[in-house]
Amino acid sequence: GLPARVRIHEVGARDGLQNEKATVPTEVKAEFVRRLAEAGLTTIEATSFVHPKWVPQLADAEQLFPQIADLPADLPVLVPNERGLDRALALGARRVAVFASATESFAKANLNRTVDEALAMFEPVVGRAKAEGVHVRGYLSMCFGDPWEGAVPIPQVTKVCRALLDMGCDELSLGDTIGVATPGHVRALLTELDVPVEKVGVHFHDTYGQALANTYAALQHGVTTVDASAGGLGGCPYAKSATGNLATEDLVWMLQGLGIDTGVDLGRLVATSVWMAEHLGRPSPSRTVRALSHQ
Ligand code: HMG
Ligand code: MG
Repeated sequence: GLPARVRIHEVGARDGLQNEKATVPTEVKAEFVRRLAEAGLTTIEATSFVHPKWVPQLADAEQLFPQIADLPADLPVLVPNERGLDRALALGARRVAVFASATESFAKANLNRTVDEALAMFEPVVGRAKAEGVHVRGYLSMCFGDPWEGAVPIPQVTKVCRALLDMGCDELSLGDTIGVATPGHVRALLTELDVPVEKVGVHFHDTYGQALANTYAALQHGVTTVDASAGGLGGCPYAKSATGNLATEDLVWMLQGLGIDTGVDLGRLVATSVWMAEHLGRPSPSRTVRALSHQ
């Protein structure tokens, strides 16, 4: 059976924008997040407290966060290390996310660490966050395929999932960073992953047009947290061939058709993505945004 309700973890302002070459003004980001909240999204990943040289687009996290902090939505932020956690806590962040990798190649490219060194870096971050009552998400990238290593063996994924949960992460997000997963692979991973399904979210990029089918496979497996990016914005600067995430509008359209409640006003969300597409100077790749707008 399918779940009665799905929680959408909106990543457009973080995963979506982190890859944009041209700097998006802080005020535009703040308005984007505000409009996403007005469209009914309740979990809106806002920015990252990473090294500004690694992700220049999000270097304004200190300026942005106070402008959106009062919105009626959870606003998780990415923190790779204790320095990032310090920055986030100083601004009053109540939800943070660490981001691990199932593969050595991506751990090196994204974090300048081995898989184990990255986990060691996260351990005190998670420990301190939990001691402060802060919710911690553990991302796991390259759960299906890796641009350098090819198909990723499932035991390699389950091992890092276990490590993230053991150190205290409240939830996991299983990332198909480069969008190569297919529904059979999703089913196989979720079957082998020996973790309570309420703790598992899915994070699909849409490179091969499989994100929606993969999401459906995850829902059938009992997953109720789905990551998506308004307008299908996105990609990861440290993974070649990563395109945007599953578009939130495509997800909402499917869930509405299945009678699954999301609390999202699709019209308002499409208007927001059209507005953002105008700002970025190119149309949204989301099929649903195109169908419901005149862009
Ligand atoms: P490093 O070069 O090894 O850093 O990078 P370090 O620990 O050696 O520190 C070097 C300098 O950076 C020091 O300054 C630190 O203070 C400073 P110095 O003493 O030389 O003046 N520094 C910082 N400054 C500000 N904020 C910080 C911070 N940390 C250190 N937090 C590091 C290691 C982790 C910092 C770097 O690799 C990094 O920032 N990586 C972030 C990469 C990233 O954000 N990638 C995109 C997000 S992941 C993703 O998109 C995938 C996902 O969507 C899921 C999926 O699709 O799979 C989540
Ligand atoms: Mg991603």
